[in-house]
Amino acid sequence: MSLSIGIHDLSIATGEFVLPHTALAAHNGTDIGKYHVGIGQESMSVTAADEDIVTLAATAAAPLIARHGTDRIRTLVLATESSIDQAKAAGIYVHSLIGLPSATRVVELKQACYGATAALQFAVGLVRRDPAQQVLVIASDVSRYDLDSPGEATQGAAAVAMLVGVDPALVRIEDPSGLYTADVMDFWRPNYRDTALVDGQESVGAYLQAVEGTWKDYTEQGGRTLEEFAAFCYHQPFTKMAYKAHRHLLNYCGRDTDPDTVTAALGETTAYNRVIGNSYTASVYLALAALLDQADDLTGKSVGFLSYGSGSVAEFFAGTVVAGYRDHLRTDAHREAITRRTEVGYDAYRALHEHRLPADGGDHATPAQTTGPYRLAGISGHKRLYATR
Ligand code: COA
Repeated sequence: MSLSIGIHDLSIATGEFVLPHTALAAHNGTDIGKYHVGIGQESMSVTAADEDIVTLAATAAAPLIARHGTDRIRTLVLATESSIDQAKAAGIYVHSLIGLPSATRVVELKQACYGATAALQFAVGLVRRDPAQQVLVIASDVSRYDLDSPGEATQGAAAVAMLVGVDPALVRIEDPSGLYTADVMDFWRPNYRDTALVDGQESVGAYLQAVEGTWKDYTEQGGRTLEEFAAFCYHQPFTKMAYKAHRHLLNYCGRDTDPDTVTAALGETTAYNRVIGNSYTASVYLALAALLDQADDLTGKSVGFLSYGSGSVAEFFAGTVVAGYRDHLRTDAHREAITRRTEVGYDAYRALHEHRLPADGGDHATPAQTTGPYRLAGISGHKRLYATR
């Protein structure tokens, strides 16, 4: 009998601050309808000066450690495209902050917004090899585009931590996967830049091509039919993209694309992304969190996942929701992560966006802003210093 492997627990974290799109619209003279309806975003998380992908990742992962301990975790994979170091894996700082044992394998994965799906699939492989082990998969990103660019409205920040193991309490990950890779320049961030470069229209088109490509391969690999899925979790750089993607998939499959059908399929998957903004690798798993936290009973139902990472790599796969999953959700904590954010105005957001850690190798404390459990306390001799509250 084949093993049941998947997501045993899932926890999210986001930034200290939130910028409503009304403030951005007032600054740049955009009709708010473009943000609320056109791209489907209401607000975006903004990180404090003393937050980064490490503090977000540790904040997301700590509740998993508190509930399950560290005994079975032998691998931590952190996926990000807003990396803080070209050599050292960000997960090593997280490993230390959350108290994982030294007998742990830690590595960082990158392929734009797709990275966490690679991490999840690699985790499934490791667990299949040794079912006694669990893998901690963390997606953590701070999405940052240039000020006053079209991408500015699609920023955000979040982390999702997932514990992967046998007999999962939440979602069983199924074979097969539909895969798609194409060499396109829709979004990239050269090593010398802090902000990403993006060709927005190209990226929308490349994403839709990838939807087709992954579905074609998924079908050829013997996957489920469209009708077998109760909901679809798409990567959501902005929530309207999920609607575009699902309509494209329905069209490609010759199905009806009436708005009710599309809305029913996307269900509650956009609720968190709509107020958090783009969180790159975390986005598709924030969609899952929102679905599990808010949808009617999904026991035994199949969920389709479409993970897209610019450049580009995409994967379509299915997960089946496990009986009793509701007893293991962290719905209150997830809502608290969102509602606890402090609203900032445009000027404060702009100052945070422009904040940079000094690169002179000196000793520099960061302003104490975050009220979260972990903070980036400063930098000294080019070394980042983290602290636990
Ligand atoms: N009321 C309602 N809708 C409005 C509107 C208004 N007042 N004004 C514009 N819109 C709609 C447009 O019709 C368009 O809808 P459509 O996509 O269904 O045609 C949508 O709002 C966006 O308008 P657009 O002119 O395309 O916006 P833009 O040039 O600012 O680009 C993005 C939008 C998302 C491409 C841009 O923010 C971006 O580059 N983001 C980063 C890249 C990204 O997220 N890529 C996604 C793939 S990973």
